[in-house]
Amino acid sequence: MKTASPTNGRAADESPRAPLLRVRGLSKAYREGDTERTIFEDLGLSVAEGAFAVLMGRSGAGKSTLLNLISGIDRPDAGTVAVGGTELTALSEKERTQFRRRHIGFVFQAFNLIPTLTALENVLLPLELSGGAGEREEKRARRLLGEVGLEDRAESFPDRLSGGEQQRVATARALAHRPRLVLADEPTGNLDYETGEQVLGVLTALARESETTLLVATHDRSALPHADRVLDLEGGRLSEREGVGKQENGRAGKRAKKAET
Ligand SMILES: Nc1ncnc2c1ncn2[C@@H]1O[C@H](COP(=O)(O)OP(=O)(O)OP(=O)(O)O)[C@@H](O)[C@H]1O
Ligand SMILES: [Mg+2]
Repeated sequence: MKTASPTNGRAADESPRAPLLRVRGLSKAYREGDTERTIFEDLGLSVAEGAFAVLMGRSGAGKSTLLNLISGIDRPDAGTVAVGGTELTALSEKERTQFRRRHIGFVFQAFNLIPTLTALENVLLPLELSGGAGEREEKRARRLLGEVGLEDRAESFPDRLSGGEQQRVATARALAHRPRLVLADEPTGNLDYETGEQVLGVLTALARESETTLLVATHDRSALPHADRVLDLEGGRLSEREGVGKQENGRAGKRAKKAET
């Protein structure tokens, strides 16, 4: 059963079941010289296991920042992030890296493919990093490349692939090691509508079949029908959008608290 939780403040505790992702009191500011820019303060978010949540917001709102904090790539100024009961913010950098390799898949806004590895080798990389890749893993990697429409490009190097093709390799790579949580930053940003639908379809199927939890930052409105929940990040506040997404039950269906900034 999926549950949905409210986004701001302590109400996240009211979730009837422990969520896969729980963010509490998250604050982040960037300093540039004498200027300090607060991206968000005391931000809370819970996402139930197997839910597909879409994160929307204007350019510069902090979507990538939030995903980077959740994945443990970046450190918050305050607050906690827990994934599947493990508090990432309490781990050492080395432990965080290990946890991320095992349990989190990340599709970066800039695809970050390794240029010296083929598409297939890039997809296999997370498997190599989390314990080795044999024949079975290679089969899975090829299948994932097939699902994103790139079965015939497995041996190609990234510089021979279009931006959208690289994005699709990056999506396959994020799913290769069967992570519990997939964080995707504009996974359809470089794709035409149909290819974007294909990638969203792969992500949605994954969430359904293996209870993978998805948090996808996007400007792409065609992601909305795929989502269980739609969250808006604006002025450092998250609010749950009403009447969009499948929002199966829980408080998500109730009136969202409007951002106060
Ligand atoms: N390392 C950094 N140092 C200083 N400011 C930063 C840094 N990284 C991000 N920012 C600023 O933080 C704000 C949020 O950036 P972020 O990349 O999270 O936005 P976004 O919502 O992902 O935008 P987009 O939709 O354009 O990808 C922006 O104003 C950005 O300039
Ligand atoms: Mg971004």
